[in-house]
Amino acid sequence: MARLHTSILLVALMFVSFIRVSQFVAAAEGPLPPQNLRCEYLRDPLGIDVKQPRFSWVLGHTERGEKQSAYQLLVATRPETLAQDKGDQWDSGKVTSDQSTQVVYSGKALESGRTYYWKIRAWDTQGSASLYSLPARFEMGLLSPQEWKAQWIAGGNGLRKEFSIPGRVARARAYITALGYYELRLNGQKVGTNVLDPAWTTYEKRNLYITYDVTAQLQQGPNAAGVMLGNGWAVPPQHFGAPITTSFPSPALLLQIEVELEGGKQLTIASDLTWKTAHGPITSDSIYDGETYDARLEAPGWDLPGFNESAWQAAQAAKAPGGVLSAQMMPPIRVIDTLVPVKMTNPRPGVYVYDMGQNFSGWAQLRASGPRGTAITLRFAELVYDDGMINRETIRRAKARDTYILHGDGAETWEPRFTYHGFRYVELTGYPGTPSLDTLRGRLVHSAVEPTGSFAASNPTLNGIQKIIRWGQRTNLHSVPTDCDQRDERMGWMGDAHVTAEEAMLNFDMAAFYTNFVRDIRDVQGPDGTITDTVPHKYGSRPADPAWGTAYPLICWYMYEQYGDRRILEENYDGLKKYVEFLHSKAPDNVLRMSHYGDWVAIEPTPGEFVSDAYYYYDVQILAKVAALLDKSGDADTYKQLGEQIKEAFNREFYDARRGVYADGTQTANALALFLDLVSDDQRGRVMGSLTSDIVYGHDTHVTTGFIGIKYLLPLLTRSGRSDLAYDLAAQTTYPSWGYMIANGATTLWELWQNKTGPSMNSHNHPMFGSVGAWFYQALGGITPEMPGYERIRIAPQIVRDLTWASASVETVRGTASSSWTHSPGSITLNVAIPVNSTASVVIPKDPEATDLTVREGDRVVWENGKFVPGTPGVTGASQANDGSLTLEVGSGRYTFKLEEN
Ligand code: BGC
Repeated sequence: MARLHTSILLVALMFVSFIRVSQFVAAAEGPLPPQNLRCEYLRDPLGIDVKQPRFSWVLGHTERGEKQSAYQLLVATRPETLAQDKGDQWDSGKVTSDQSTQVVYSGKALESGRTYYWKIRAWDTQGSASLYSLPARFEMGLLSPQEWKAQWIAGGNGLRKEFSIPGRVARARAYITALGYYELRLNGQKVGTNVLDPAWTTYEKRNLYITYDVTAQLQQGPNAAGVMLGNGWAVPPQHFGAPITTSFPSPALLLQIEVELEGGKQLTIASDLTWKTAHGPITSDSIYDGETYDARLEAPGWDLPGFNESAWQAAQAAKAPGGVLSAQMMPPIRVIDTLVPVKMTNPRPGVYVYDMGQNFSGWAQLRASGPRGTAITLRFAELVYDDGMINRETIRRAKARDTYILHGDGAETWEPRFTYHGFRYVELTGYPGTPSLDTLRGRLVHSAVEPTGSFAASNPTLNGIQKIIRWGQRTNLHSVPTDCDQRDERMGWMGDAHVTAEEAMLNFDMAAFYTNFVRDIRDVQGPDGTITDTVPHKYGSRPADPAWGTAYPLICWYMYEQYGDRRILEENYDGLKKYVEFLHSKAPDNVLRMSHYGDWVAIEPTPGEFVSDAYYYYDVQILAKVAALLDKSGDADTYKQLGEQIKEAFNREFYDARRGVYADGTQTANALALFLDLVSDDQRGRVMGSLTSDIVYGHDTHVTTGFIGIKYLLPLLTRSGRSDLAYDLAAQTTYPSWGYMIANGATTLWELWQNKTGPSMNSHNHPMFGSVGAWFYQALGGITPEMPGYERIRIAPQIVRDLTWASASVETVRGTASSSWTHSPGSITLNVAIPVNSTASVVIPKDPEATDLTVREGDRVVWENGKFVPGTPGVTGASQANDGSLTLEVGSGRYTFKLEEN
């Protein structure tokens, strides 16, 4: 019977989608209904607290060269209203505009806790309207502090409350945050799929609450809520250095459940002193040290109604951490995937070592059965010694050890809740009997950012690098961008954060993640404008090393370039200005000499003062640009002038005119000066010559930089017409290079160019050298935003050396931009996709073999006899530069350009 129902349902569904498709087919000519509707960068977000949220959508069109000429956005309070094409909350009307991202809500005031439904239609260049998009929704969180009736409570690491619901539940929401970590359970079931939640913040400043739709998990009659609490970053492990920020005595909970009954009655269940508490089966938990779980201490039914709680105590009031409550508006940390071990060995009696085949962040899931009270221990490591035992020297003081004590009632499956490790190998001891490969699974855990980019090329070394960059990047997203995932750090080190930011934005959808991180940075800013080396601040200094602090202006700026986010510039303008003014106060003679780390982990060190001063200039330049953008022309002039003064002082202080080098003449020094245009025009050639001869002759085509210099070296070479040399560095396989890491078994990027496995600082999962990933997309793929948010795109692939093809694709806020090319002597084929509502210039380099060129798009000629041939849809013009490269002006659409020698 059930099966019959399912098939009827299936047929019905197919029919409905057939109608949908055929509707679209009917409208097959012209603009397609907008897709990928986002609100504050998120899909159908629940619980946001931005009062004027921003919308974006992606357009589609059957024709090339299309733009949006107008849009209409409807926001309704009920889906039925929206279905009638009515926006009772906001009807934008037909707005003549090509804006399809960052569109600011401007309807009636949005109310706390309310769900809104929205859709959008767009007009194309001819004035034809698309159908409306499918509906999307967003929901507001609790907008004012007064609405929080809940009280911060603490006690043991288990908390529970039974309550009765006097009617059928129409709608229910849980709003929850914790100091540390929480797991919320309702009537025996975990709520949602977030783990290691809420996001780590400067708790004294801000706590992030999460909104869950719990309608289906509550019922008329008796109910029970159970919460498990973990220490997280709020109660740091004992061995943590002297606390810089507040440590809290214990984890604490703030929870409010709002229930609406059929008929409209409201009910609130909130954390307060009527809750009961006890210590649960988690007997210890620490991010660095791991978790111990004694299954014998489980209290079956503790999260169900009707439990005998006589042994539980009353919860205690916990001091509120003191900050504001904000909605958590970014991808939560989740279990992303499950990894099957590739190998199990038995290096010593009773010791089993599992190889997961990949270094990653997360934990292991254990399956076992055996006598009650048996303690099974898992220890985690990135490396193994030659004898097969795990090598834990790279994780320093982190104990990274999970222990599970068997309940003893048959097959048991367990995984920890409140810790995570960075590891490839797991050591299993204490196992009752002989384990198998199936005893353990790896659980990949990180912030659930969506992959948005891809890159591949004909050189396998590059593909190997791209792979370890992606692994290193995503496993270092744990609500803040971390330096590493395994040792006793895992901090939001700001230097690492900004050098990887562009790479991360090309590989993953980072918009909401960095929006949050930039606010985290603002939260640590002092009244004197200072910010800190790590955010939240637990390690390192205040004021930050300027090469670390620059994460504040730089990430804001990348957000603007990649996502067209002007609001982040507006919201941070004062903070950025205060920061730059602080730097200014430390540089009375226009040279900023304050430095802690400089070009960190370099092979040839560059003076820290030089690096700091270069970033001081960079920060001032960005501030001047932001001021101009925001129409603050007074400030724009002031900072432009300050920039000139810094440039002059920089050259006076650091340029060695005799040798034609900066500072000590390192690759980092010369590359930074050139990249930032700090070099006077008449000296550029000389400095460039010094740099390239240092690379080629001085170091046999190898890098000597740390993680600061490497961010700019390859882009600078490309910008200066030396993509061939940049490519040689990228494709290098001997020490020091990325390829050397791969040749030595790296599955994530190392912290050092050197292959070290001893007790020094040498993490094997540090994403910072992955900044080269941006160069893959921007140089080899050739895709860059020429106007913010890819409104105008430049596609200028660098066709170099022995590469026969490369392919890159970026999911921009306007849709997919991609470029993929093949090259053989005398011929280049370039496939390009430009999203609707963007335009692009496509630069086809001159093939060294080709003299007289013809370019075809499909079977039409677009360039012949040195001239543009009009007539190809979407291609509006073409010109040839002095270097022989061709630039084609195109609108949206997909193109296949073929360049051939006549
Ligand atoms: C971190 C780095 C960080 C550095 C600051 C290290 O311990 O792991 O990646 O940027 O300290 O110098």
